[in-house]
Amino acid sequence: MFGKVQSFCFCTFFIAFLCSIEPPQNVLSRYCARLVFRTSLHIAKNTHIRYNQSMSTRCFTMLKPGVLNRRLVGEVISRFEKKGLKLIALKMMQISPELASKHYAEHNGKDFYNALVSYITSAPVVAMVWQGDDCVQIVRKMVGATSPAKAEPGTIRGDYCMHTNHNIIHASDSDESAAREISLFFKDEEIFDWEDNAENWF
Ligand code: PPS
Repeated sequence: MFGKVQSFCFCTFFIAFLCSIEPPQNVLSRYCARLVFRTSLHIAKNTHIRYNQSMSTRCFTMLKPGVLNRRLVGEVISRFEKKGLKLIALKMMQISPELASKHYAEHNGKDFYNALVSYITSAPVVAMVWQGDDCVQIVRKMVGATSPAKAEPGTIRGDYCMHTNHNIIHASDSDESAAREISLFFKDEEIFDWEDNAENWF
């Protein structure tokens, strides 16, 4: 029923409990009991942390033209932050036709391609990189379906979009796309994997 670590913690807590009922008489035994108790506490804490973590990954997101005009930048960022994702890169930029064609290369030739490129290059965008466990899956779920008519209420597209050709946010659809898109939009030195002292609380 118990793993090795849990059994160890249980035993040391039990020893510490017994010591508190019948405190060891000499200084050395008291010191050893305290050491065992602290070590078990440390192991228990780190075990809890490890059990809560799956794979930390990254997702590229881009707030498209119109989001600045509609004053929705803070609202969208706030949703991802409240979820517990970690913002590790952010910049406002004007996308060139060259960058747009690289970013949307897989859609080249589709009937909406020209509209997509002309929309994305029409005004500044806000590009971001988010990090967290299962980041792409979580971001895509929060972004919602591509068609605003199919996106569930509560998702970003479900709440803030009316038309697919004015889809307010792009998000990578896989870890591979994320890696490709992040390298298109950000240099290594523009990404900050800052120390997150609160990550164990999410
Ligand atoms: S998604 O969300 O990326 O998986 O969507 P996908 O179906 O692959 O579509 C790729 C991008 O093309 C945009 N799109 C369109 N733009 C204009 N008109 C039409 N009809 C249309 N259909 C799809 C869609 O918003 C995706 O862009 P991003 O930047 O990913 O939102």
